[in-house]
Order: sequence, then structure tokens, then C-alpha cells
Amino acid sequence: MASSITGSHFEGLVLGLLMFWYFSSMGAAINNGNSGGVPAVYVVGDSLADVGNNNHLLTYMKADFPHNGIDFAGGKATGRFSNGKNAADFIAEKLGLPSPPAYLSIKSSIGSSQTFSTGINFASAGAGILDATHNGECLSLNKQIDYLSTTYAAMVEKNGNEQAQAHLANSIFAIIIGSNDIFGYVKSNGNTTPQQFVGSLIYALQGQLQRLYNIGARKFAFVGTGPVGCCPSLRRQTESNDCNAEANSVSDLYDQAVLSLLQELNSQLSDMKYSFFNTTFAMHEIMDNPTDYGFTEVKAACCGLGDLNAKVACTPFSSYCSNRTNHVFWDFYHPTQATAGILTAKMFEGSVPHVYPVNVRQLSAL
Ligand SMILES: *[C@@H]1O[C@H](CO)[C@@H](O)[C@H](O)[C@H]1NC(C)=O
Ligand SMILES: *[C@@H]1O[C@H](CO)[C@@H](O)[C@H](O)[C@H]1NC(C)=O
Repeated sequence: MASSITGSHFEGLVLGLLMFWYFSSMGAAINNGNSGGVPAVYVVGDSLADVGNNNHLLTYMKADFPHNGIDFAGGKATGRFSNGKNAADFIAEKLGLPSPPAYLSIKSSIGSSQTFSTGINFASAGAGILDATHNGECLSLNKQIDYLSTTYAAMVEKNGNEQAQAHLANSIFAIIIGSNDIFGYVKSNGNTTPQQFVGSLIYALQGQLQRLYNIGARKFAFVGTGPVGCCPSLRRQTESNDCNAEANSVSDLYDQAVLSLLQELNSQLSDMKYSFFNTTFAMHEIMDNPTDYGFTEVKAACCGLGDLNAKVACTPFSSYCSNRTNHVFWDFYHPTQATAGILTAKMFEGSVPHVYPVNVRQLSAL
């Protein structure tokens, strides 16, 4: 009898400890971040990060057909402009989170079954900072932020403002945007100077980052546009398949201005933290020493047709290379899975001047 009482006391203690452990770990899972990890990653951006939003739009900017996805799980075309995973997938993976679903694929369940997710991806191929960039063909950055705002309202309704704020404050907001605006500017031969044009981008971006902050974003992982003039599509249009110098110089101006903007916001907005990834620096390392990274082809696209495989997009009728790990570019604008993985690794493990002032791993621990 006595021993059985002792036994049940002991069992009670063990059960109590287990329950304590269970509830406290559950609390961390809901609330986020207290156990060291980030609870979620929210992605806004363009085709470098789209995981299927454009599948739900009436647009010509889609990738939900072969040969896209040829190296993805099941060899499936998902809407990613890649042979496999893209930057959004790798960022989530590095954070130990599932790759967040495309907003338009889960829209109807937000507010019902969804409470605190591990993130949502709003990125849309063709998107720009300016609403005019591919207007009507994609979710502009402003539209993506509208959708985040709707999501936030649903979170508050379900879990209250305090929990929603704690969740967002610990989450990473990955931002990959600007290339499409720059392509548009270079193509237009307009009469604004690069400085004026970049000024208009930064003016709009300032409002957009402020909106993200107002919703509750605190940890910004900003990916610079990098040497956009070196994508196969623009190389094809130069004499000896060189990079388009104008596009690269506009991109440099933009990246510099973004970094200044982030520094300014960091000094003005309490708790605003950021990591800026210098894609130009990283891409130059790859393009200058390709074999160090297993690449043998830095200019031509893997999938496409015509000069540099860059005259047309990657479609079921295009040809594609047999070895996707030795190509920097998948199609006329987008990197291969191999390149996206290398860039993301630098984003997480790199140091100044690759990534400034902290890398994304450090940002997530702040
Ligand atoms: C990024 O790195 C390049 C060197 O590759 C440098 O010229 C450029 O100024 C850097 N940009 C920023 C915003 O730090
Ligand atoms: C692809 O190319 C890389 C670099 O040239 C090489 O190391 C690798 O073995 C190749 N893979 C296949 C499947 O041929």
C-alpha cells in the first residue's frame, strides 16, 4: 500500500513535469522564438522568390509547366522559376522552417484553420516596387503588403493583438524586389536620370517598409538586386555577351540607396533590425571563380532557346542542359537551384561586406 502510494506520487510528479514541459514547449511553438528559433518567415518579392502565387493569376508570367521544376521533388513544376528550389525555399530551410506556402494557394483558409502559421509567401513573378511595373500581370509589392495586412487582421481576431505582435516581431521578413523595376527602366530609355529613377524607387520603398513595420515586422532580411545586367537575357543583347553595364550601374545605385534607407529606418524606428545581402559581391565571387563553386557555365541559360539559350523563356518546347549543377543560370533571368543555394548560404553564414551589418542567422537570433 505504502509503496503503491509512493509509486503514484512519483508518477504524478513525472506526469506533472511532462505536462509542464509539454505546455511550455507548446507555448514556445505558438508564441515563437523564445526557444531560440524564429517562428515564421514572411516573404515578399518577385520571381526570384515566387513559389506559386502567379499560378492563380491571369498572366503570362508563369512557370507552372516543364522544364521548370525538373529537379524539384517529384520533378514537378510548381510555379518556381527554377529547376528546383529558389531563394525563398532555402531561406526557410536555413531557418529550420517549412517553405511557406503561396498566399493565393491558402487565402481561403486564412482566418479559419490558420492561426499562427510558420509563414506565408506573397512573392509574385514580375512584381516591382512601382505599381506600374507589370501592372495587372502580378501582385505588386503594395498588393502583397495589403495581403499581409489582411493576414494580420485574421491573426489578431484569432489570437489577440499581443500574441500577433509577438509572433511578427520575432519572424523574419525576407524582401527580394527591385530587379523588374530596373529592367523596365533600362528597356524604356526614358528621360529620367538613373539618380531620379532610383530616387523614385527609394521613395516608394520607404513607404512600403514603413507599412511592413506598422503591421509588426521588425526583422528585415533584404536581398539586394545584384548584377542584373549579367543575366543571360541582357548578356545576349550585347556585342560579346558581356554584362549590360547600364543595368548593373543602376542596380549598384539602387543597392547603395537601399542600404542607406535601411540604416535610416534603423535609427528612426525602435526595434527595427535588418540584414542587407550584397548580391553583387556574392555573384562576382561566383562569376570570377566559377569552378570553385562547381560551375562551368556562367553566361548561358540552362533552359531556353537561341543565343545563350536566352532568346526565349524556359517552356516545354525549349531545350535544357543535362547538368544543372554546373550552370549559374536556369533560364534567361533566373538562377539555378545550385546558385540560389550558394547565395542563401552566404546570406546566412557570410560576414561584412557580403552581408551587412549582420547575417540572417545573426538577425534571427537578435
Ligand atoms: C556590393 O559589393 C560591391 C563589390 O562587389 C560594391 O561595389 C558595392 O558598393 C556593394 N554595395 C553595397 C550596397 O554595399
Ligand atoms: C556536373 O558538372 C559538375 C561540374 O562540371 C561535375 O562535377 C558533375 O559531376 C556533373 N554531374 C553530372 C551528373 O554529370
